[in-house]
Order: sequence, then C-alpha cells, then structure tokens
Amino acid sequence: MTIVSVPANVRAALEAVLDCDGFLVDEEQRKHYGHDETENLQYPPSVVVRPTSTEQVAAVVRICAEHAIPITPIGGRTGLSGGALCVHGGVGMALDRMNAVVAIDDKNLQVTVEPGVITQVLQEAVAAKGLYYPPDPSSRGSCTIGGNIAENAGGPRAVKYGVTRDFVLNLQVVLPNGEVIWTGANTLKNSTGYDLTRLLVGSEGTLGIITRAVLRLVPLPKDTRLMLVPFPSAMKACEAVSATFRAGVLPSAMEFMERDAIAWTMRFTDGLPTQLSTDPEAYLLIEVDGDHADMLMRDCERILEVMEAHGCGEVLFAETTAEKDALWKMRRSVPVSVKAHSVYKEEDTVVPRYELPRLLAGVKEIGRRYGFSSVCYGHAGDGNLHVNIIRGDLSDKFWEEELPMAIREIFEITVSLGGTLSGEHGIGLVQRPYMDIAFDPVQLDLMRSIKRVFDPLGIMNPGKVLP
Ligand code: LAC
Ligand code: ZN
Repeated sequence: MTIVSVPANVRAALEAVLDCDGFLVDEEQRKHYGHDETENLQYPPSVVVRPTSTEQVAAVVRICAEHAIPITPIGGRTGLSGGALCVHGGVGMALDRMNAVVAIDDKNLQVTVEPGVITQVLQEAVAAKGLYYPPDPSSRGSCTIGGNIAENAGGPRAVKYGVTRDFVLNLQVVLPNGEVIWTGANTLKNSTGYDLTRLLVGSEGTLGIITRAVLRLVPLPKDTRLMLVPFPSAMKACEAVSATFRAGVLPSAMEFMERDAIAWTMRFTDGLPTQLSTDPEAYLLIEVDGDHADMLMRDCERILEVMEAHGCGEVLFAETTAEKDALWKMRRSVPVSVKAHSVYKEEDTVVPRYELPRLLAGVKEIGRRYGFSSVCYGHAGDGNLHVNIIRGDLSDKFWEEELPMAIREIFEITVSLGGTLSGEHGIGLVQRPYMDIAFDPVQLDLMRSIKRVFDPLGIMNPGKVLP
C-alpha cells in the first residue's frame, strides 16, 4: 500500500485556505485522527485538515485533485470497518468543526445539519421541539451524523423506523473534483431522475464529502415500555424474534445479547446501576413505543405470550425512566466491553429475520470447527447479528492465516440464507476481501464504473469498499 506524504508546496497551498486550528501536522494530532474503533488499526494521515465551511472543503479538495493527493473524510472515528482510516496517508479531512444544527423546520418536520454534529446532540435538539430522529448507533454520544450517513448507520430503533438512509432527504456534497452539488430535493417523495441521495448514503466517503444534510423527522413518541427477557437457550431467543412480528407486534427495538456480552459488560463497565445474572444463555431487550398506554399494554401482553411460548425465564420490566436508562446503558456498553475483554474481529452479518437461528447455529458450528470462540449480539429484529470473534490466546498464525477462511465461511452461510456482509457497519477496509461473496463480477464492475465516474483520479477515500 503506497503511503502518500503531502509535499511542501501542497501543504503551503492548504495552509493558505485554512486557519491555524484547521491545519495540523503534529505527530500526536495525526495519530489522534489516524484511528477509529476498528480492531487496533492505526493509519495516520500525512496532514489533518479541519475545514469550517463547504467553501473550505471544496478548496481543499481542488488542491488535492490538482496534485492527486488522497483525501479521507473523518467523522467521529467510531466506525467498525475502518472507513475513516487514512490507509494511503495523504490528507485526513476531519469534519468535527462543521458541527452546527443549521435549522429545525418544525413546519415540515425536517432538520438541516452540518456533518460534524454528534448524533445525540441532534436527537436532543429535535426532541426539545417534540420531534424524533430515530437512528441511534450505540456510539451516538460520540459518532457524527456525517459518519452515520457515510456508513448508513442503523442501531436499535431501525427495526421500527428504518436506518439512516430512510431519513436522508437531500445532501450537499463536494465531489472529488471540488464541485459542489445537492443530490435531490427536500421532499418526502421524489421520482425525479436517478437517486443520487441514496447512492451517496452508505458510499463510505468514496464518492464525495458530505457538507450538509437535510433529514426527515417524525413526531417523538410519548411513552415506551422496555423489558429484558432471559432465555436458557440462545436458539430459542432467536426463534422468538420473528415470532413476535408474526404475532402482530412491531417493537421499536428488539436486541439480542449472548451470555458473554452480558458478563463482560458487568465486568468492564463502571457505574452500571443494574447487575444481571449471567446464568441465561441469552437475553432479548425489547422496547415498544407509542402514545397510548392501552396499546403499549396490549403489545407487551402479546410479546409476553410469544416469549413464554419459547421458554423464557422471568421477565424484567423497567418501571421508571432510570431503570430504562440503566438497561440501555448496559446494552450500549456491550461493544466497548467486548473490546476491553480482548482484541476481537467483528462481522456485521445480516439475514432475513426468520433465518437468525440458522445464522447463529452456523457461526457457532464454524467456531467449533476452527477452534475460536465468538460472542454474538445485535439488532435481532433486523436479523442483524454482530459476530465478535475473540482473539484470546489464539496464535498470530491462526489470526492472520486461518481466521480469514473461517470468516469467509461465516459470510458464505450468511449469503446462503439470503443475507449480506454488513447490516450497518459498512465494508470499509476490513470487509473488502469478502465482497466477492455478496456480488458477482458484473455487479462489482458496475460499482467500479460508478466510482470512476465520480472519482476518475481515485483520490477520494482510496482503498475502501471495492476489492
Ligand atoms: C452496536 C454497535 C456495535 O450494536 O453496532 O452496539
Ligand atoms: Zn449495532
């Protein structure tokens, strides 16, 4: 992999369009912007730029295009597929200073934001006006909306409301030649030409840099019910998931956690108000939301019937806001707790919901055959299972040479069940070698052609997505 160092004349040109906080070359700062949450990978850029406006972004991109310097857009650096890693050095473009909630349009239930807004900040700003932006990754306290759009992030509420893509109406994008476009219109419906908005969402910073987004909002639900359901059998927990929807309930979250996910969260997360038993093999965390207490009650009764029919243990209902917050804090702490326990590799498998038990069984069978352990958790209602393969004391040889074959088998099972490689974390750097499992050469060539139309020089987040 060639690492591009930004030459002195280009540095001078960049410095001329940015202020002193907007141009960083210090080793510490380059390191800071040189990693995300993917494994323990480190790829610092040669220089970091931190623009404050679309005009500055465009000026930087024009300079980079003129000198064929790679540019990698950087959001909150919470990504799990390496999308923000500067694998070819060059310019790392951090959007953290473009963090304004520009306007909340409560007449149309829309919000216009800059890409560096922290997702939770956006959610709280619109909630103050009785509005709701549902996509909520576990990292919502530090991830940014630009990164969420680039990766098409999901989170627990996607099961009822949809993923980031379903909320993006229109995007302002700086193209790899420095031109600025809007991709669509600020409308809920749009059948006008090719849908550039949906193409840009999830393109992982390879087609352009998002500088503004218009997002759709919904009314904030007035109330929720939250229950934690233990199961002696993880398979039964997975079977209960699709049965819930078939019983006529649409939960606002339906999360699955295996025993070790709970055990490590208990061990590695400070200040958890709730201590849970690690006797059950798995838990489901199920939320329903709405405005009418009687409907929520009816949903809970139906869910309970399904859970009991699948042999659940004693259900814990969160009675107060504090109890609900405690359970969500526990769930959101799972990824960092797994990371605190061991180096791991994460696969973001997703299958049609009913196939979830077969996916889990397949992952465990592959683990037994290759000799690794895994902890699985995720958005069961979406059929989205985060498979965390634990390094423990596995040898370097196994980790680097044999494990990729096992991962390939995991993805092959996933695809054979009608699923695909990533539900919400993206392909980025680390899942690229497996793209041939999900796509044939014709499909991959079509994607490469799209990339070339946008970015003929190949400067925009090179080394990502396409094998
Ligand atoms: C979660 C992140 C890892 O579900 O996607 O917690
Ligand atoms: Zn997730």
